[in-house]
Amino acid sequence: MKTIYIIGFMGSGKSSVGHELAKSLNKSYIDTDDYVEEKHGKISEIFQEKGEKTFRLYEIDALKETSNFKVVSTGGGIVEKQENFKTMKKNGIIFYLHTSFEEIANRLGQDVNRPLWNKAVEDQVNLYNRRIPIYKEFSDYMIDTDQKSIQDVVNEIIHIVKSIK
Ligand code: S3P
Repeated sequence: MKTIYIIGFMGSGKSSVGHELAKSLNKSYIDTDDYVEEKHGKISEIFQEKGEKTFRLYEIDALKETSNFKVVSTGGGIVEKQENFKTMKKNGIIFYLHTSFEEIANRLGQDVNRPLWNKAVEDQVNLYNRRIPIYKEFSDYMIDTDQKSIQDVVNEIIHIVKSIK
């Protein structure tokens, strides 16, 4: 089985879906954010002390170093680097979890642990609007997650994966 990559905006459910998906398929699972944190410390501190640029370099390496896993959830900014697209494309299938801005705002609220969310609403909206077309372009399949449970989304992905085997 090719690796399944889960991409999408912060709060789209990438980690929960990836984790459940791997469990259902009985495959290995990793989250690139967790991988980076284990290697380099808390993401909020990396942003604060070393800046986003450094974080993006760690993220590029994390994606490459986790290519032996079968289900990989990524950070929302994985699409900021074209190199990451190449890594994912070469190794697997890319699923984009699409979630409306309203639902993301509901789910994340005032989360202060995500440096790129912990900003004025205008900045959040701008980031969201800038990224959506990139997720669409980066991905092989798009799954709408609004009003769906984690299990609903997992089932949709499994259905697609089985149909392309
Ligand atoms: C980021 C999303 C975060 C994390 C970092 C940057 C982004 O991951 O990688 O805070 O640029 O959108 P989640 O999407 O898992 O919150």
